[in-house]
Amino acid sequence: MFTLRPPMGWNSWNTFAEKIDENLVREMADVIVEKGLDKVGYNYVVIDDCWAEKTRDENGRLVPDKKKFPSGMKALSDYVHSKGLKFGMYSCAGVLTCGQYPASYDYEYVDAKTFAEWGVDFLKYDFCYKPESVDGKALYRRMGVALANCGRDILLSACSWGAEKTHEWVRSTGAGMWRSTGDIFDNWNSIKGIILQQVDRTCEYKNNEGSMPFGGIGCFNDMDMLVVGMHGAGHVGLGGCTDEEYRTHFTAWAIFGSPLMIGCDIRKMDDEAYKILTNPEVLAINQDARGAQPYVANNGWVKEHDDCSPAIARLLENGDIAVALFNLGDKDNFFDFRGDQIGLPPVSKARLMARDVWTGEEFEIHNYAYITDIPAHDCKLLRIKVIPQ
Ligand code: GAL
Repeated sequence: MFTLRPPMGWNSWNTFAEKIDENLVREMADVIVEKGLDKVGYNYVVIDDCWAEKTRDENGRLVPDKKKFPSGMKALSDYVHSKGLKFGMYSCAGVLTCGQYPASYDYEYVDAKTFAEWGVDFLKYDFCYKPESVDGKALYRRMGVALANCGRDILLSACSWGAEKTHEWVRSTGAGMWRSTGDIFDNWNSIKGIILQQVDRTCEYKNNEGSMPFGGIGCFNDMDMLVVGMHGAGHVGLGGCTDEEYRTHFTAWAIFGSPLMIGCDIRKMDDEAYKILTNPEVLAINQDARGAQPYVANNGWVKEHDDCSPAIARLLENGDIAVALFNLGDKDNFFDFRGDQIGLPPVSKARLMARDVWTGEEFEIHNYAYITDIPAHDCKLLRIKVIPQ
Protein backbone atom coordinates (compact mmCIF):
# COMPACT_ATOMS: atom_id res chain seq x y z
CA MET A 1 0.00 0.00 0.00
CA PHE A 2 1.26 3.47 -0.92
CA THR A 3 1.41 5.51 2.27
CA LEU A 4 0.66 9.22 2.31
CA ARG A 5 1.63 9.83 5.94
CA PRO A 6 3.99 8.03 8.34
CA PRO A 7 1.85 5.22 9.80
CA MET A 8 1.06 5.48 13.53
CA GLY A 9 -0.05 2.91 16.07
CA TRP A 10 1.00 0.54 18.83
CA ASN A 11 3.15 -2.59 18.51
CA SER A 12 3.49 -5.41 21.04
CA TRP A 13 7.22 -6.16 20.71
CA ASN A 14 9.06 -3.54 22.75
CA THR A 15 7.27 -4.32 25.97
CA PHE A 16 5.75 -7.77 25.63
CA ALA A 17 7.77 -9.80 23.08
CA GLU A 18 6.43 -13.37 23.33
CA LYS A 19 4.14 -12.56 26.30
CA ILE A 20 1.16 -11.68 24.14
CA ASP A 21 -2.38 -12.98 23.98
CA GLU A 22 -5.77 -11.92 22.69
CA ASN A 23 -6.86 -10.32 25.97
CA LEU A 24 -3.80 -8.10 25.98
CA VAL A 25 -4.38 -7.02 22.40
CA ARG A 26 -8.04 -6.29 23.10
CA GLU A 27 -7.07 -4.27 26.15
CA MET A 28 -4.59 -2.26 24.11
CA ALA A 29 -7.28 -1.48 21.55
CA ASP A 30 -9.59 -0.38 24.39
CA VAL A 31 -6.92 1.82 25.94
CA ILE A 32 -6.03 3.45 22.61
CA VAL A 33 -9.63 4.58 22.31
CA GLU A 34 -10.15 5.42 26.01
CA LYS A 35 -7.08 7.63 26.06
CA GLY A 36 -7.90 9.22 22.72
CA LEU A 37 -4.67 8.04 21.10
CA ASP A 38 -6.67 7.18 17.98
CA LYS A 39 -7.94 10.76 17.80
CA VAL A 40 -4.40 12.04 17.29
CA GLY A 41 -3.60 9.34 14.71
CA TYR A 42 -2.43 6.16 16.47
CA ASN A 43 -4.71 3.74 14.70
CA TYR A 44 -2.78 0.52 14.02
CA VAL A 45 -2.70 -2.23 16.66
CA VAL A 46 0.14 -4.53 15.62
CA ILE A 47 0.93 -7.99 16.97
CA ASP A 48 4.63 -8.65 16.50
CA ASP A 49 6.50 -11.98 16.58
CA CYS A 50 5.58 -15.10 18.64
CA TRP A 51 1.87 -15.32 17.86
CA ALA A 52 1.84 -18.62 15.92
CA GLU A 53 1.86 -22.33 16.60
CA LYS A 54 5.24 -23.87 15.74
CA THR A 55 3.81 -25.84 12.81
CA ARG A 56 1.51 -24.99 9.93
CA ASP A 57 -1.76 -26.88 9.47
CA GLU A 58 -2.34 -29.69 6.94
CA ASN A 59 -3.03 -27.10 4.23
CA GLY A 60 0.22 -25.29 4.89
CA ARG A 61 -1.51 -22.38 6.61
CA LEU A 62 -0.23 -20.52 9.63
CA VAL A 63 -2.07 -21.30 12.85
CA PRO A 64 -2.42 -18.82 15.72
CA ASP A 65 -1.10 -20.13 19.06
CA LYS A 66 -4.11 -21.92 20.52
CA LYS A 67 -3.37 -20.89 24.10
CA LYS A 68 -2.57 -17.26 23.37
CA PHE A 69 -5.23 -16.65 20.73
CA PRO A 70 -7.98 -19.25 21.36
CA SER A 71 -10.64 -17.22 19.54
CA GLY A 72 -8.48 -16.95 16.42
CA MET A 73 -7.24 -13.92 14.52
CA LYS A 74 -10.43 -13.12 12.64
CA ALA A 75 -12.30 -12.59 15.91
CA LEU A 76 -9.48 -10.41 17.20
CA SER A 77 -9.30 -8.33 14.06
CA ASP A 78 -13.10 -7.91 14.17
CA TYR A 79 -12.73 -6.60 17.70
CA VAL A 80 -9.95 -4.18 16.74
CA HIS A 81 -11.98 -2.98 13.76
CA SER A 82 -15.08 -2.54 15.95
CA LYS A 83 -13.06 0.07 17.85
CA GLY A 84 -12.41 1.96 14.62
CA LEU A 85 -8.78 0.79 14.59
CA LYS A 86 -6.70 -1.20 12.12
CA PHE A 87 -5.19 -4.62 12.72
CA GLY A 88 -1.53 -5.43 12.11
CA MET A 89 0.38 -8.71 12.19
CA TYR A 90 3.93 -9.95 11.70
CA SER A 91 5.77 -12.48 9.56
CA CYS A 92 9.22 -12.86 8.13
CA ALA A 93 10.84 -13.30 4.72
CA GLY A 94 12.96 -16.25 5.88
CA VAL A 95 12.09 -19.82 6.81
CA LEU A 96 11.57 -18.89 10.47
CA THR A 97 10.72 -15.65 12.24
CA CYS A 98 13.38 -14.13 14.47
CA GLY A 99 11.65 -15.83 17.41
CA GLN A 100 11.80 -19.14 15.49
CA TYR A 101 8.16 -19.47 14.54
CA PRO A 102 7.11 -20.48 11.02
CA ALA A 103 7.74 -17.69 8.50
CA SER A 104 6.64 -16.95 4.96
CA TYR A 105 9.52 -18.10 2.72
CA ASP A 106 7.89 -20.02 -0.15
CA TYR A 107 4.52 -19.51 1.57
CA GLU A 108 4.14 -15.85 0.59
CA TYR A 109 0.96 -16.36 -1.44
CA VAL A 110 -0.66 -18.73 1.06
CA ASP A 111 0.10 -16.37 3.91
CA ALA A 112 -1.03 -13.20 2.11
CA LYS A 113 -4.38 -14.94 1.50
CA THR A 114 -4.61 -16.01 5.13
CA PHE A 115 -3.83 -12.51 6.37
CA ALA A 116 -6.47 -11.08 4.05
CA GLU A 117 -9.04 -13.57 5.37
CA TRP A 118 -8.17 -12.62 8.91
CA GLY A 119 -8.81 -8.94 8.17
CA VAL A 120 -5.20 -7.85 8.51
CA ASP A 121 -4.43 -4.25 7.44
CA PHE A 122 -0.68 -4.10 8.08
CA LEU A 123 2.07 -6.70 7.79
CA LYS A 124 5.44 -6.18 9.44
CA TYR A 125 7.82 -8.37 7.46
CA ASP A 126 11.10 -9.29 9.13
CA PHE A 127 14.40 -10.60 7.76
CA CYS A 128 15.64 -13.50 9.95
CA TYR A 129 16.51 -17.00 8.68
CA LYS A 130 16.67 -15.94 5.06
CA PRO A 131 18.10 -18.65 2.75
CA GLU A 132 21.57 -17.45 1.72
CA SER A 133 20.97 -18.25 -1.92
CA VAL A 134 18.16 -15.71 -2.28
CA ASP A 135 18.33 -11.91 -2.38
CA GLY A 136 16.35 -9.98 0.18
CA LYS A 137 14.86 -7.81 -2.51
CA ALA A 138 13.46 -10.85 -4.32
CA LEU A 139 11.71 -11.97 -1.14
CA TYR A 140 10.20 -8.57 -0.38
CA ARG A 141 9.03 -8.34 -3.99
CA ARG A 142 7.33 -11.71 -3.64
CA MET A 143 5.40 -10.60 -0.58
CA GLY A 144 4.72 -7.20 -2.14
CA VAL A 145 3.07 -8.82 -5.16
CA ALA A 146 1.25 -11.38 -3.00
CA LEU A 147 -0.24 -8.64 -0.81
CA ALA A 148 -1.14 -6.46 -3.79
CA ASN A 149 -3.21 -9.39 -5.10
CA CYS A 150 -4.69 -10.79 -1.90
CA GLY A 151 -7.97 -8.90 -2.19
CA ARG A 152 -7.34 -6.62 0.78
CA ASP A 153 -5.45 -3.39 1.25
CA ILE A 154 -2.51 -4.45 3.44
CA LEU A 155 0.38 -2.13 4.20
CA LEU A 156 3.72 -3.92 3.86
CA SER A 157 6.12 -2.79 6.56
CA ALA A 158 9.54 -4.02 5.42
CA CYS A 159 11.79 -4.82 8.37
CA SER A 160 15.14 -5.77 6.84
CA TRP A 161 17.05 -3.39 9.16
CA GLY A 162 18.66 -1.57 6.21
CA ALA A 163 20.50 -4.78 5.22
CA GLU A 164 21.50 -5.51 1.61
CA LYS A 165 21.16 -1.78 0.83
CA THR A 166 17.42 -1.90 1.48
CA HIS A 167 17.04 1.77 0.55
CA GLU A 168 18.03 1.03 -3.07
CA TRP A 169 15.25 -1.45 -3.76
CA VAL A 170 12.60 -1.23 -1.08
CA ARG A 171 10.27 1.10 -3.01
CA SER A 172 10.19 -1.44 -5.84
CA THR A 173 8.59 -4.00 -3.52
CA GLY A 174 5.43 -2.01 -2.83
CA ALA A 175 6.34 -1.56 0.85
CA GLY A 176 4.77 1.49 2.53
CA MET A 177 7.57 1.82 5.12
CA TRP A 178 11.02 0.35 5.60
CA ARG A 179 13.22 -0.16 8.65
CA SER A 180 16.50 1.66 8.19
CA THR A 181 18.11 0.49 11.42
CA GLY A 182 18.74 -2.43 13.72
CA ASP A 183 16.58 -2.89 16.79
CA ILE A 184 15.96 -0.04 19.20
CA PHE A 185 16.53 -0.44 22.94
CA ASP A 186 15.19 1.69 25.72
CA ASN A 187 18.35 3.62 26.50
CA TRP A 188 20.09 6.79 25.36
CA ASN A 189 22.90 5.16 23.38
CA SER A 190 20.43 3.28 21.24
CA ILE A 191 18.39 6.40 20.48
CA LYS A 192 21.49 8.45 19.74
CA GLY A 193 22.86 5.74 17.45
CA ILE A 194 19.65 5.59 15.45
CA ILE A 195 19.51 9.38 15.08
CA LEU A 196 23.10 9.51 13.85
CA GLN A 197 22.52 6.66 11.46
CA GLN A 198 19.90 8.73 9.67
CA VAL A 199 22.50 11.36 9.01
CA ASP A 200 25.85 9.68 8.68
CA ARG A 201 26.93 6.39 10.15
CA THR A 202 30.50 7.51 10.68
CA CYS A 203 29.65 10.49 12.84
CA GLU A 204 32.02 12.57 10.73
CA TYR A 205 30.41 14.96 8.32
CA LYS A 206 31.30 13.77 4.85
CA ASN A 207 28.44 15.27 2.94
CA ASN A 208 26.64 12.03 3.40
CA GLU A 209 22.90 12.31 3.91
CA GLY A 210 22.54 8.83 5.45
CA SER A 211 19.02 7.42 5.23
CA MET A 212 17.34 10.81 4.86
CA PRO A 213 16.84 10.89 1.08
CA PHE A 214 15.12 7.51 1.16
CA GLY A 215 12.01 8.25 3.19
CA GLY A 216 8.92 10.24 2.46
CA ILE A 217 5.58 9.77 0.77
CA GLY A 218 5.00 6.28 -0.57
CA CYS A 219 7.51 4.48 1.65
CA PHE A 220 8.54 6.05 4.96
CA ASN A 221 11.89 5.55 6.64
CA ASP A 222 11.08 3.60 9.81
CA MET A 223 13.48 4.31 12.66
CA ASP A 224 11.88 1.48 14.70
CA MET A 225 9.19 1.45 17.35
CA LEU A 226 9.13 4.13 20.02
CA VAL A 227 10.46 3.51 23.52
CA VAL A 228 8.89 6.69 24.97
CA GLY A 229 7.38 5.88 28.38
CA MET A 230 9.00 2.45 28.83
CA HIS A 231 11.28 3.59 31.67
CA GLY A 232 13.23 0.36 31.54
CA ALA A 233 10.20 -1.93 31.82
CA GLY A 234 9.63 -4.59 29.19
CA HIS A 235 11.49 -6.62 26.62
CA VAL A 236 13.74 -3.92 25.13
CA GLY A 237 13.76 -1.91 28.35
CA LEU A 238 17.49 -2.00 28.86
CA GLY A 239 18.13 0.89 31.22
CA GLY A 240 15.36 3.33 30.43
CA CYS A 241 15.62 7.03 29.61
CA THR A 242 14.87 10.35 31.24
CA ASP A 243 11.85 12.36 30.14
CA GLU A 244 14.20 14.75 28.30
CA GLU A 245 15.74 11.84 26.42
CA TYR A 246 12.30 10.53 25.47
CA ARG A 247 11.39 14.00 24.21
CA THR A 248 14.57 14.11 22.12
CA HIS A 249 13.77 10.64 20.77
CA PHE A 250 10.25 11.68 19.79
CA THR A 251 11.45 14.96 18.29
CA ALA A 252 13.87 13.05 16.07
CA TRP A 253 11.27 10.54 14.90
CA ALA A 254 8.95 13.50 14.19
CA ILE A 255 11.35 15.62 12.16
CA PHE A 256 12.75 12.67 10.22
CA GLY A 257 9.18 11.67 9.28
CA SER A 258 9.43 8.19 10.78
CA PRO A 259 6.38 6.02 11.39
CA LEU A 260 5.32 6.35 15.04
CA MET A 261 4.59 2.99 16.63
CA ILE A 262 4.22 3.25 20.39
CA GLY A 263 6.05 0.45 22.22
CA CYS A 264 5.33 1.11 25.90
CA ASP A 265 2.56 -0.40 27.98
CA ILE A 266 -0.02 2.28 27.25
CA ARG A 267 -2.20 1.07 30.13
CA LYS A 268 0.43 2.30 32.56
CA MET A 269 2.08 5.18 30.72
CA ASP A 270 2.80 8.24 32.84
CA ASP A 271 1.54 11.75 32.11
CA GLU A 272 4.82 12.91 30.66
CA ALA A 273 4.91 10.05 28.13
CA TYR A 274 1.31 10.79 27.20
CA LYS A 275 2.13 14.47 26.69
CA ILE A 276 5.12 13.65 24.52
CA LEU A 277 3.27 11.13 22.38
CA THR A 278 0.23 13.31 21.81
CA ASN A 279 1.74 16.79 21.34
CA PRO A 280 -0.34 18.04 18.40
CA GLU A 281 2.28 20.41 16.98
CA VAL A 282 5.01 17.78 17.01
CA LEU A 283 2.66 15.25 15.42
CA ALA A 284 1.74 17.83 12.76
CA ILE A 285 5.41 18.09 11.78
CA ASN A 286 5.72 14.30 11.59
CA GLN A 287 2.51 13.95 9.57
CA ASP A 288 3.10 16.99 7.35
CA ALA A 289 1.47 16.50 3.95
CA ARG A 290 4.44 17.71 1.91
CA GLY A 291 6.48 14.73 3.14
CA ALA A 292 9.65 16.65 2.24
CA GLN A 293 13.08 15.17 2.82
CA PRO A 294 14.74 16.29 6.05
CA TYR A 295 18.29 17.65 5.80
CA VAL A 296 21.20 18.72 7.94
CA ALA A 297 21.12 22.46 8.66
CA ASN A 298 24.33 23.10 10.55
CA ASN A 299 27.07 21.74 8.31
CA GLY A 300 26.59 18.37 9.86
CA TRP A 301 28.32 18.64 13.16
CA VAL A 302 29.09 21.30 15.64
CA LYS A 303 32.78 20.60 15.49
CA GLU A 304 33.83 22.61 18.52
CA HIS A 305 31.65 20.40 20.68
CA ASP A 306 32.92 17.03 21.78
CA ASP A 307 30.12 15.16 20.09
CA CYS A 308 28.29 15.35 16.83
CA SER A 309 24.89 16.98 17.08
CA PRO A 310 23.01 17.63 13.88
CA ALA A 311 20.41 20.33 13.37
CA ILE A 312 17.75 18.86 11.12
CA ALA A 313 15.37 20.95 9.02
CA ARG A 314 12.32 20.13 6.93
CA LEU A 315 10.16 22.24 4.64
CA LEU A 316 6.50 21.90 5.54
CA GLU A 317 3.32 21.95 3.49
CA ASN A 318 2.37 25.56 4.30
CA GLY A 319 5.85 26.96 3.69
CA ASP A 320 6.94 26.90 7.33
CA ILE A 321 10.25 25.25 8.16
CA ALA A 322 10.69 22.87 11.08
CA VAL A 323 14.15 22.88 12.62
CA ALA A 324 15.24 20.46 15.35
CA LEU A 325 18.45 21.13 17.24
CA PHE A 326 19.83 18.16 19.13
CA ASN A 327 22.41 18.05 21.88
CA LEU A 328 23.50 14.44 21.57
CA GLY A 329 26.59 15.12 23.68
CA ASP A 330 26.98 14.55 27.40
CA LYS A 331 27.59 18.21 28.33
CA ASP A 332 25.27 21.20 28.22
CA ASN A 333 26.20 23.28 25.21
CA PHE A 334 25.11 25.91 22.72
CA PHE A 335 23.86 25.23 19.21
CA ASP A 336 23.06 27.37 16.25
CA PHE A 337 22.02 27.56 12.64
CA ARG A 338 21.95 30.37 10.11
CA GLY A 339 19.12 31.42 7.86
CA ASP A 340 21.03 30.64 4.69
CA GLN A 341 21.30 27.02 5.83
CA ILE A 342 17.51 26.70 5.58
CA GLY A 343 16.97 28.70 2.40
CA LEU A 344 16.68 32.10 4.08
CA PRO A 345 19.73 34.27 3.36
CA PRO A 346 19.67 37.95 4.40
CA VAL A 347 18.91 38.96 0.79
CA SER A 348 15.53 37.29 1.21
CA LYS A 349 14.66 40.22 3.52
CA ALA A 350 12.03 37.91 5.01
CA ARG A 351 11.06 38.07 8.68
CA LEU A 352 11.41 34.79 10.56
CA MET A 353 8.87 34.15 13.30
CA ALA A 354 9.67 31.08 15.39
CA ARG A 355 7.56 28.98 17.67
CA ASP A 356 9.15 26.53 20.09
CA VAL A 357 6.65 23.71 19.72
CA TRP A 358 7.48 22.04 23.04
CA THR A 359 7.17 25.20 25.17
CA GLY A 360 4.80 27.30 23.05
CA GLU A 361 7.23 30.24 23.26
CA GLU A 362 7.08 32.56 20.21
CA PHE A 363 9.84 34.93 19.13
CA GLU A 364 11.43 36.54 16.11
CA ILE A 365 14.76 35.32 14.77
CA HIS A 366 16.87 38.43 14.08
CA ASN A 367 19.85 38.75 11.76
CA TYR A 368 19.18 35.38 10.12
CA ALA A 369 20.95 33.51 12.89
CA TYR A 370 19.78 31.54 15.88
CA ILE A 371 21.81 30.40 18.85
CA THR A 372 20.56 28.65 21.95
CA ASP A 373 21.73 26.69 24.97
CA ILE A 374 20.59 23.09 25.12
CA PRO A 375 21.18 20.78 28.08
CA ALA A 376 22.90 17.43 27.44
CA HIS A 377 20.65 14.89 25.64
CA ASP A 378 17.94 17.52 25.16
CA CYS A 379 16.69 19.26 22.02
CA LYS A 380 14.69 22.16 20.66
CA LEU A 381 12.05 21.94 17.98
CA LEU A 382 11.14 25.16 16.19
CA ARG A 383 8.49 25.82 13.62
CA ILE A 384 9.54 28.89 11.65
CA LYS A 385 7.08 31.02 9.75
CA VAL A 386 8.54 32.97 6.84
CA ILE A 387 7.06 36.42 6.29
CA PRO A 388 8.28 37.68 2.91
CA GLN A 389 9.08 41.35 2.65
C1 GAL B 1 13.53 -8.19 14.93
C2 GAL B 1 12.80 -6.92 14.61
C3 GAL B 1 12.09 -6.47 15.86
C4 GAL B 1 11.10 -7.54 16.30
C5 GAL B 1 11.84 -8.88 16.45
C6 GAL B 1 10.85 -10.02 16.68
O1 GAL B 1 14.21 -8.63 13.82
O2 GAL B 1 13.71 -5.95 14.17
O3 GAL B 1 11.42 -5.24 15.63
O4 GAL B 1 10.09 -7.65 15.33
O5 GAL B 1 12.61 -9.19 15.34
O6 GAL B 1 11.51 -11.24 16.83
